[in-house]
Amino acid sequence: MPCNCCEITDSAFSEAEARADIKSYHKRGPADQTKLILEALRSLEIKEAELLDIGGGIGVIHHELLHDMARGATHVDASSAYLKEAKEEAARRGHGERVQFVHADFTDIAADLPKADIVTLDRVVCCYPDFQGLLKAAADHSRKALALTYPRETWYLRFGFKVLNFFQRLRKDPFRVFLHPIAGMDALLKAEGFERITLRRLFVWEMALYQRI
Ligand SMILES: C[S@@+](CC[C@H](N)C(=O)[O-])C[C@H]1O[C@@H](n2cnc3c(N)ncnc32)[C@H](O)[C@@H]1O
Repeated sequence: MPCNCCEITDSAFSEAEARADIKSYHKRGPADQTKLILEALRSLEIKEAELLDIGGGIGVIHHELLHDMARGATHVDASSAYLKEAKEEAARRGHGERVQFVHADFTDIAADLPKADIVTLDRVVCCYPDFQGLLKAAADHSRKALALTYPRETWYLRFGFKVLNFFQRLRKDPFRVFLHPIAGMDALLKAEGFERITLRRLFVWEMALYQRI
């Protein structure tokens, strides 16, 4: 879908937020929904995996998985601020050489990227209008498994997202958050040849792990 999503997303995820996220990661470790992804992926017992982390933010998933189950990773992100923090952290951990960092809207450059064993999208679909385009491209790139987190379809999140988007409009900021239909995302991934093998819920986030059949 031709759009200026990368530009919009880049300005929405600023240097200040990226620095706050890395501070929190150093202090408390991975966020709760990210822990669910890590736990689910580790349960597959895949060794020496190639990881594709779409919208990886400060890179927590590859920082963690390069310790045990991943051989290498590609981190594609529309935010240059997040990528900068992710790169610095990877270097601090001695993983710099094993991660390829790409600043782009994944849907624009997916055709140029190789497939990976595992694809992750942690809190990414809710920042992107076209969930079909994003998830289809993500599924195309996964040889074995795909794990994602997204906001639950609850009354309190429907209300919260409406309020957030209302203030975004007032501020004339084009960035929006999206509560995409979970059944629609699930049907799309099943049509792409995956089955859902794990589903976990927190108050805001749901984590689903899909395995290629
Ligand atoms: C809410 S942040 C989540 C970051 C990280 N995954 C986490 O959970 O901490 C959403 C991230 O997705 C990225 N993003 C959103 N849509 C994207 C797209 N189409 N291609 C690449 N990155 C995207 C944003 O730049 C941002 O870094």
